[in-house]
Amino acid sequence: MTRRHLLSSADLARDEVEAILTTAQSMHDVQRREVKKLPTLRGRTIINLFFEDSTRTRSSFEIAGKWMSADTINIAAKGSSASKGESLRDTVKTICAMSVDALVIRHNASGACHQVAQWVDASVINAGDGTHEHPTQALLDAYTLRGRLGGSLDGRHVVIVGDLAHSRVFRSNVITLGRLGARVTVVAPPTLMPSGIGAWAARDGFATAWDLDDVLDAASPGDRPDAVMMLRVQRERMSGGFFPTEREYTAGYGLTRERLAHLYAVVPDIPILHPGPMNRGLEISAEAADATSSVILEQVSAGVAVRMAVLYHLLAGSDAPSEKAEAS
Ligand code: NCD
Repeated sequence: MTRRHLLSSADLARDEVEAILTTAQSMHDVQRREVKKLPTLRGRTIINLFFEDSTRTRSSFEIAGKWMSADTINIAAKGSSASKGESLRDTVKTICAMSVDALVIRHNASGACHQVAQWVDASVINAGDGTHEHPTQALLDAYTLRGRLGGSLDGRHVVIVGDLAHSRVFRSNVITLGRLGARVTVVAPPTLMPSGIGAWAARDGFATAWDLDDVLDAASPGDRPDAVMMLRVQRERMSGGFFPTEREYTAGYGLTRERLAHLYAVVPDIPILHPGPMNRGLEISAEAADATSSVILEQVSAGVAVRMAVLYHLLAGSDAPSEKAEAS
């Protein structure tokens, strides 16, 4: 794989997704070692430039870089000259004048990472741009699902539920899961469906629905969900009223205790995913978040391995990671 940037999930063909997930598997083994260090990215400098808040994504990119011996530095917009009015172009050009090898960027403007990639020589990795995409999240979700569903996602039915209008996680996931041969159904109230989703669903081959219980209760075994991914209601991106009350949203679209019990009766032990951060009691009940089939913390753990794999494929040479590990 000879690619410089990871800007969109659409950049990755199926064999590239498979290559990253295979590498992530070796990286996951490193996580289980007592000494978590590979020399792979020694001498490389990675800047995490985050203009939006983040717990999981930023820390896992930082840990991933550190475990591969890169020098990783975090810059948050609040503590940078961006808060003094510096333009994004000036900020990234200034950082790149210090000879950095990669910029991991999260920004509230959709398309910001594509724009930055045109301004700098460093590798640019999209860690979430507005409501557009979040490609490493989709990779870690696929990695987690493959682990739970026995390897291949071909023909598996993944149901994604929630605030689709504002979700970059959903946008990247329909692409990556589609690449891996999964069937995807997305469910949201009409007000939280992105406009024009019909044409887009037809093009990318996913289904849309408004009635969550109908989808979860699929009559034919072939339609039964194999996994359900709940998405956060993104209040910070909402300017108006998208649903009458929170209680009504939960009743129609939350993974409540009652809905979970019903779902388990149809598909016992169905994996439950959520990219975090969760609004417990709104889109997901505590019973579902903490259920034995919940893989929410596995997603977090996979996030480090997958981000190590992405950094490896973008920044390292062509040697297999296991050989590099042994060379240490
Ligand atoms: C997501 C994000 O920031 O897009 N979270 C994450 O990266 N784990 C989803 C969200 O904020 O709801």
